[in-house]
Amino acid sequence: MYRKNENLIAVYPGSFDPPTKGHIDIINRASKIFPNVVVAITYNYSKNHMFSLEERLSMMKEAVFKIKNVKVEAFSGLLVDYLNSINSFCIIRGLRALSDFEYEFQLALMNRKLKKDVETIFLMPDKEYTFLSSSMVRELTFLGGNFKKFVPNNVYKKINKIEKKRRKNV
Ligand code: PNS
Repeated sequence: MYRKNENLIAVYPGSFDPPTKGHIDIINRASKIFPNVVVAITYNYSKNHMFSLEERLSMMKEAVFKIKNVKVEAFSGLLVDYLNSINSFCIIRGLRALSDFEYEFQLALMNRKLKKDVETIFLMPDKEYTFLSSSMVRELTFLGGNFKKFVPNNVYKKINKIEKKRRKNV
């Protein structure tokens, strides 16, 4: 296990359905603290996803390709197994408001129960993004609201493209 050295890998896991400017803000902050950051995209079994894993992966890859020490990967199964597979013990999660805390607390302690040496580190996004969530962006998308300022440019373009295609096929 790598601690306190240049091989340390911090993993920022999530469903990123879709990636928002709040996620990118957290990734930027993490990339300034940790030598290597892996954004790890997966299914959240308690959510119905709007975008496929491939779509979320490509949106996130495009959004962060300029940040040199950040990689984007997909995984399935338990997060702790994924951490083991890449020799990491460090999880990053964003904390926006008190309402996030209960779920994050549960997740962090469950992961620690499953893997003793795991550490979850919480980062706060800019206050501009404390109200922002993927679920709100999904709702805006679904109801035809304007979500341009809440997501990176490439994500905005991609969502419009996907939605156009979907409407054509209905
Ligand atoms: O962005 P999200 O949906 O809040 O992220 C939640 C996520 C994907 C990090 C969490 O559901 C997760 O870690 N899923 C993988 C399965 C797992 O390890 N679950 C926790 C122990 S039951």
